[in-house]
Amino acid sequence: MENKFQKNILCIGAGYVGGPTMAMIAYKCPQYKVTVVDINHERIKQWNSSELPVYEPGLDEVVRATRGKNLFFDIDIEKGIKESDIIFVGVNTPTKTFGAGAGMAADLQYWEKTARQIREAAESSKIVIEKCTLPVKTALAMERILTSKNSNISFEIISNPEFLAEGTAMNDLEFPDRVLIGSRETESGIKARNEIVEIYKNWVPKERIIESNIWSSELSKLVANAFLAQRISSINAVSALCEKTDANVKEVSRAIGFDSRLGAKFLNASVGFGGSCFKKDILNLVYLCKSYGLDEVADYWEGVVKINEYQKERFVLNMLSSMFNTLAGKKICLFGFAFKADTGDTRETPALYIAKRLIEERAELIITDPKALQNARIDLGGIDGIVYEEDPYKAVVGCDAIAVMTEWSLYNKLDYVVIYKSMTKPSFIFDGRNILDHNQLYKIGFNVFPIGRPPLTHY
Ligand code: UDX
Ligand code: ADP
Repeated sequence: MENKFQKNILCIGAGYVGGPTMAMIAYKCPQYKVTVVDINHERIKQWNSSELPVYEPGLDEVVRATRGKNLFFDIDIEKGIKESDIIFVGVNTPTKTFGAGAGMAADLQYWEKTARQIREAAESSKIVIEKCTLPVKTALAMERILTSKNSNISFEIISNPEFLAEGTAMNDLEFPDRVLIGSRETESGIKARNEIVEIYKNWVPKERIIESNIWSSELSKLVANAFLAQRISSINAVSALCEKTDANVKEVSRAIGFDSRLGAKFLNASVGFGGSCFKKDILNLVYLCKSYGLDEVADYWEGVVKINEYQKERFVLNMLSSMFNTLAGKKICLFGFAFKADTGDTRETPALYIAKRLIEERAELIITDPKALQNARIDLGGIDGIVYEEDPYKAVVGCDAIAVMTEWSLYNKLDYVVIYKSMTKPSFIFDGRNILDHNQLYKIGFNVFPIGRPPLTHY
């Protein structure tokens, strides 16, 4: 069975990154055997079922086409290590919650455990690839761990950060803007790098495969996310000013986005960015700068996170002041809980912060979302009295206000005349994503509060 394949590839960690990425490699490279392992047996069971643990448009089809042929999900990590020459590591690297660097630095315990596991099980030389986001110089620590056992087995560490965004993961994997592969610039490092380039060359045009030294590659991942988040915080900061000056942030975004040096993407003002990467990676960058004594640089990047926190709190305070300075006993319906559209993921979702703050203000919450209600229930598990309702029409009945948290396109297609009729009067809409037709809603009778544009009110 094994001999049939040109290469045996393993991925440790069957999460948001590992699962879809390996599925795409298996799909594009039928000549390779790809195995994905995880300590979480339940997760592996899900990957082997018809209900995959990750929701991504197009993922089901790719897994269905490859699973059992050249893509395998397994729990035997040791066997997987022994049988493969190339090991991707996609374990989680959350922000540390304890000790030095708590709340900022990356928690590398899962990574380190994995490195030790590879060292113990390996019976031949391996290429080990960092797929998860890691602080710069992690590869050095990993090299030390992997080579600490006296043997003639060698390990080459490669950095190959993942730039996929959730909701578009399969498209990002199939047609990436670039694939970045960093290695040591030694003879063996470059040889290993070429091996990984070979994998991607199966479907990625050569000019989109960027090679670099390993530290540039590690740092580029953090910096790419910091730059993207910085654009959102910049436009969100401007949105606050627009609300005071009768400007419209959408028009400002459009005007500046036409400048080809700036570009039009990632300029949508919102209630704040979420997701598992942005905040974590920026804080990681901040910690890194601080640890090198670069306090001014650290403060600069920390500002991006601070504006994001400010934007979320500003949204709540805006709701409070517009609804006559009390939310106690008022029914508020959150439209969306996912951190963005087309995903069920709720990690770092601004909706969680808003929900908790509204509860603090003693509002009654009804949450609706097409994909994220299960995660919302877990995230808000300790709080009684929240209603979860998949159907937005049922969710809004008797509510005083709607707050749009996620830019699901379905919210734009609802019949707001019907919705208005079923709500308590006066009715409010706070559009935290600027996706609705504000003038139309105002005509129907709503008091409308967009982001970055003065409100449209009937009083
Ligand atoms: C991000 C990066 O885009 C990706 O390259 C990296 O690999 C992982 O982190 P992701 O977190 O999946 O991907 O989502 P992304 O589309 O970047 O959105 C992040 C957050 O910013 C979401 O909450 C989104 O709603 C918000 N956002 C995005 C805005 O508020 N305004 C925008 O203009 C764009
Ligand atoms: P990401 O978004 O980076 O993919 P996830 O949390 O979705 O992160 O996935 C990481 C996966 O790695 C989880 O399924 C977790 O169980 C797995 N994992 C963590 N540590 C280990 C380990 N030592 N061996 C195998 N799998 C691990």
